[in-house]
Amino acid sequence: MHLAYILSTSRAYSLDVIDTIGTGPYDATDKNGRRREEDRFWREKKRQRGVSFPSANKQEYVLIVRLNLKPNARGEIKQVRHGLKRLCGLFGRIDAGEEKINIKDDNGDLTSSKLTNFNFSATLGFGIGFFEKLKIDRNFCPRGLYEMPLHADLGDPEQYLFTQTDMIVQLCSKMDFVNRWVFKTDSYPITPSEEWRNLAGGPKQNAEEKIHDISTAVSEWAIVTDVHSGFQRLDGRNLMGFMDGISQPERLRNDDIWTTGNDEIGALIDGTYMVFQKIEHDLEQWEKLGVREQERWVGRSKGTGLLLGTLSREQDEKLADDCRSNNSMVSQAARSRLKKLLKEQEDPSKPFYSSSDPQYKNIQLECPVWSHVRKSNPRGADGETRKIFRRGYLFMNDTTHPGKRVSSGLLFICFQRDIQNGFEHIKKHYLNNKKFPVPEVRKNFSREELAYRHMHGRFKEDELGRMVPYQRSSLGLDTAYSRKLQEAKDPDLQNTGKEGLGGPSQLGIYPRGDFVATVSQGGGYYFIPPIPNRKISEIGQQFFG
Ligand code: HEM
Repeated sequence: MHLAYILSTSRAYSLDVIDTIGTGPYDATDKNGRRREEDRFWREKKRQRGVSFPSANKQEYVLIVRLNLKPNARGEIKQVRHGLKRLCGLFGRIDAGEEKINIKDDNGDLTSSKLTNFNFSATLGFGIGFFEKLKIDRNFCPRGLYEMPLHADLGDPEQYLFTQTDMIVQLCSKMDFVNRWVFKTDSYPITPSEEWRNLAGGPKQNAEEKIHDISTAVSEWAIVTDVHSGFQRLDGRNLMGFMDGISQPERLRNDDIWTTGNDEIGALIDGTYMVFQKIEHDLEQWEKLGVREQERWVGRSKGTGLLLGTLSREQDEKLADDCRSNNSMVSQAARSRLKKLLKEQEDPSKPFYSSSDPQYKNIQLECPVWSHVRKSNPRGADGETRKIFRRGYLFMNDTTHPGKRVSSGLLFICFQRDIQNGFEHIKKHYLNNKKFPVPEVRKNFSREELAYRHMHGRFKEDELGRMVPYQRSSLGLDTAYSRKLQEAKDPDLQNTGKEGLGGPSQLGIYPRGDFVATVSQGGGYYFIPPIPNRKISEIGQQFFG
């Protein structure tokens, strides 16, 4: 079974290696620097948690809850304001350690544990519909927020199943059941309708405190549209078997993720923009590609996570083997070497591919220009580096889809200061752009590329023209010759603008038009506001002036 293979390749690395490659250290020279910075953010209580801190490695589970305002709440600012207060009041009480979860022990006895014991965070985001439906004053709207475009406008091949919603709540913790408990507890009967009717008299403290889950907190003014659960693999790999999250902007720096005075009005500084997209992948087809080809699609070695060309094939395999060695001296030495090499490849703005440094020459040669890493981050090939902070979680569900046993993929989540120049630019102009980064028509191919092309029955017009009849027959081209000739005239079939993992299948050097590696099912764009006056219960209130 394919999955079994991928899982079996994964046990190799201990958590200390993963922690480093997962997020990127705050200060390489000061081991405690990152922790201190994280504590500072936490104490400041300006930025919502669940974005760049805590690290996703310490919050292994996510539950995404998306919501729309109920039709009766449109234009009802007062009701929604109060509803938001109830919702965020719950998050504030959780944060203060006042909310507990019941856990049954081996003897069947119930004990109560604070939700804070599970490294829990609730992150609240708002889609453009929230502002439009409530007719919120433009001055208080996040400037860079707009509706996620339709699939065709982002260059995705299939219609989205999930479209923009008015709100999103991202629940993260180290226990899946904790997220689900906060979403829906159903163990504290209350009568929200009564409270809603009494709203004119102002919020009632005791009634608010009775609310212990999101479902109840929003029941009068919002409906849940969809819920998605995801997990991290403890080895830092994704379900395609590759290490993910190696190259990332430093998560605790303020310049790539959080909004500043250049972006927003004062009340919205220290917020961030979130993209959520559910991306399904076809693991069965992926497995059929074989490891070498998979590596070329991603641009990194499956064993070590290093960019192709960093080490020779043999050295790379040996390093991966040594990391798994039972001899602790060998494995320790190998792991610290790998850690050092991966660290060098952490910085997304480092120009590996255009560098004249001989150390990177092989990367330039062996890591295909159409691979996922080179297409998602061409490292200055278009004059700029677009930085997004990725915080994805994996999903794996059973499915009723005909011919498929599991549906799996990535809950792609990323944060940035500016979606249009971040996620959207990468998706539209890089990953899903057949003509990027190579010119439309390739005149020359390297010897290796030519070999691949020929192996897959792809020939240039002049190559076909030079073929003598016996060559045509030996390649089985007798009847297909004129079709091939026609095909060779199509400029799109001559480029190498394959879309890597991000988009539709390629027209480039592999003629595999039938295999779409990943399919986005859609999602939405959201603004994650800062915490006003250090009070979590006030989140969202800044939009009302
Ligand atoms: C199922 C879909 C996807 C999978 C399985 C996937 C997987 C990966 C893997 C394995 C890497 C290499 C390791 C690393 O540097 O983190 C990577 C890098 C990256 N991915 Fe994706 N990815 C997916 C979709 C996307 C999408 C939709 C975007 C953005 C629109 C994206 C943006 C990036 C970026 C910016 C990098 C870092 C490249 C670099 O700086 O070297 N990925 N991804």
